[in-house]
Amino acid sequence: MTDTNLNDHMPTRKEVARAVGHKCLVSRRNFLIAGGVTTTVMITMNPGTPLAKEVPASITTYPRKLIGKLSSLRQDEPVDFTYPDEGAYSDNMIVKLGVEAGGGIGPKRDVVAFNYACTHQGGPLAGSYKADTKSLGACPLHLSTYDLTRHGILISGQAYQSLPQILLELEGDDIYATGIFGLIYGRMDNLHG
Ligand code: FES
Repeated sequence: MTDTNLNDHMPTRKEVARAVGHKCLVSRRNFLIAGGVTTTVMITMNPGTPLAKEVPASITTYPRKLIGKLSSLRQDEPVDFTYPDEGAYSDNMIVKLGVEAGGGIGPKRDVVAFNYACTHQGGPLAGSYKADTKSLGACPLHLSTYDLTRHGILISGQAYQSLPQILLELEGDDIYATGIFGLIYGRMDNLHG
């Protein structure tokens, strides 16, 4: 790292993206040390000009977490897991719906995962899965219900945002959580509590 004063010029997201696109500078070693969460990289500002200089920038990425085996899932039997951390509102469920769903993985694209915190006021949705409608809810506080076949969109109730969907990847029989589509209730940023 250089001794650049960060206050001179904090890089914008666009500048970071452009610099990273130019491969500036995440070494494989640093990426592995960071565990795929937060990585400090050096980026070149104003490349190819007399004002070019290197500055540090932090890039935060979602962790890649092994959450289960495809072969162990039983239809309509949710399995709980935490993601992206162990903090508040990090409880989620993965379920094999038996019908194709948006964002679903597996041969039938019917395996999906969602956060358990109602997007209205954080009501707990654990234990509210309904196999007949492939939905989560009704929320015990104000009855919001979410459609798990359509990215957690609201079916009814007081909420106005879809339930955050956990992005999944399948590698052989292993299922990994790799990101979140939507903002978890109670967080300004999914990755920072
Ligand atoms: S907290 Fe769930 S509907 Fe209000």
